[in-house]
Amino acid sequence: MMPELSKKSVSDVELGGKRVLLRVDFNVPLGPEREILDDTRIRAHLPTINYIISKGAKLIVASHLGRPKGKVVPELSLAPVAKRLDELLEAKVRFVDDCVGPKVASAVDSLGVGEILLLENTRFKPGETENSPELAKQFAMLCDVYVDDAFSAAHRAHASVAAVAKFVPESVEGFLMEKEVFNLGKLLQSPVQPFIVILGGAKVKDKIGLISHLIGKVDTMAIGGGMCFTFLKAKGLGIGDSLLDEEHLRAITSLLDEAESMGTRIVLPIDIVVAEDVSAEADVSVVPADKIPDGQKGLDIGPQTVNLFVSMIEPAATVFWNGPMGVFEKPAFAKGTMAVAKALARASGTTVVGGGETVSAVRAAGVADRITHISTGGGASLEFLAGETLPGIAVLDDI
Ligand code: 3PG
Repeated sequence: MMPELSKKSVSDVELGGKRVLLRVDFNVPLGPEREILDDTRIRAHLPTINYIISKGAKLIVASHLGRPKGKVVPELSLAPVAKRLDELLEAKVRFVDDCVGPKVASAVDSLGVGEILLLENTRFKPGETENSPELAKQFAMLCDVYVDDAFSAAHRAHASVAAVAKFVPESVEGFLMEKEVFNLGKLLQSPVQPFIVILGGAKVKDKIGLISHLIGKVDTMAIGGGMCFTFLKAKGLGIGDSLLDEEHLRAITSLLDEAESMGTRIVLPIDIVVAEDVSAEADVSVVPADKIPDGQKGLDIGPQTVNLFVSMIEPAATVFWNGPMGVFEKPAFAKGTMAVAKALARASGTTVVGGGETVSAVRAAGVADRITHISTGGGASLEFLAGETLPGIAVLDDI
C-alpha cells in the first residue's frame, strides 16, 4: 500500500469543542475587480468544512492565493474569497487580515463554536514557501487539530502545508484530499486495463516523471499538444517552427526506447493543424505530421489524429487525461481538445482528468458531469502519478 493511502481521516478524530486548522486551496482565478471567476476550488472543500462545523468545532481556514513571494500584495488578498464562502455556507464566515500573530489569536479566541475564521493569504509571510518551522509553530499555536484538504498544494513543502503538522497533536486528511488520493491512487495501484493516458500541453518537462513512472503500467499513451513536437523530433521528424524542448530531447528519446521495451505503446499525432502563428488572421491548414513545413507551427492535432485518439479512448477501461491537444483558447485550434473531452464523456470506463487547462476544456465542452473524477490538482496530480511522495500528505498521521 502507498503511504498516502494509509493516512488518518478527519472522520477518525474527535472534533467537538476543538480548534481545527483546515488547510485548503482557495487559489482561485480572480478578475480585474478581484471578482472570483471560477469558484470550483472553494466548492470542492465544502463537504470538509460542513463536516467540521457539524461536529461543533471552531474552524480556522488557511490558504494561499497566487505567488506574492512573502510580501503583502493587496490584489492577492483572500477577502473576496471570505465573502464567497459566506454566501456558500450557512455558518458565519469571519475574515482576519493576517494569518498568524496576536490579531489572529484574538480572532480565534472570540470565534464561536460553529463559526469559521478565514485567515489572510499564507504566502504573504516570507517563511511560508521556505517551510519555516517558526512560522509553522505559529500556525500550530492556533489549533488542536490540523486537517489538510489541499491536495492541489500537497506537492509544496510549505509551512502551512508541511511543517505545521509536526507541531500539532493531530494531523489528518480532509474529505477532498481523501477523494483525490483514492481516485488517483487507483490509477497507480489497480487500473482496469486497457488503461490509456492522454497527455498534452506545452511543457514536456512537467510530464517526464509521470511518463517514466507509468510506462509498463499503461497500455497506450497518446501524446498531443505543444509537447508532441519534442516527441516527433525525437523520432527524427522535421517539426517546422513548432515548439521544441531541446533540453529534454534526449530524455524523450530514452523514454521512447523504454516504452518500447516495457510494452507501452506511445502514439503520436499523424496529422497536425498548422499556421504561421496563433493570430486570427493566420492561414490554417492540415499537414501530415512528418511534413510540417518550415515557417509553420503545429497548433492542434489534425482530424485523422482526432479519430485515432477517440478510437482508443472510447473502448478503454481507464483513461487519464492531462493537457490540451492544442491552443484551445482559439477556436481555430480547439477541435482536438474538444473532441478528446467529448470522447472521455462517451467512454464507458473510469475517466480521470487533471490540470487547470484540461479541467477548463472539459467544462468548455460541457461534459464535466460525465467525467468520473476531476482532480483539483495540476502539478500535484502529475507529481502524485509520477510516484513522488507529496510533502503535504507525508506529514499527516498514519492510521
Ligand atoms: C495550483 O494552483 O496548482 C496550486 O494552488 C499550487 O499553486 P502554486 O503552483 O503557486 O504552488
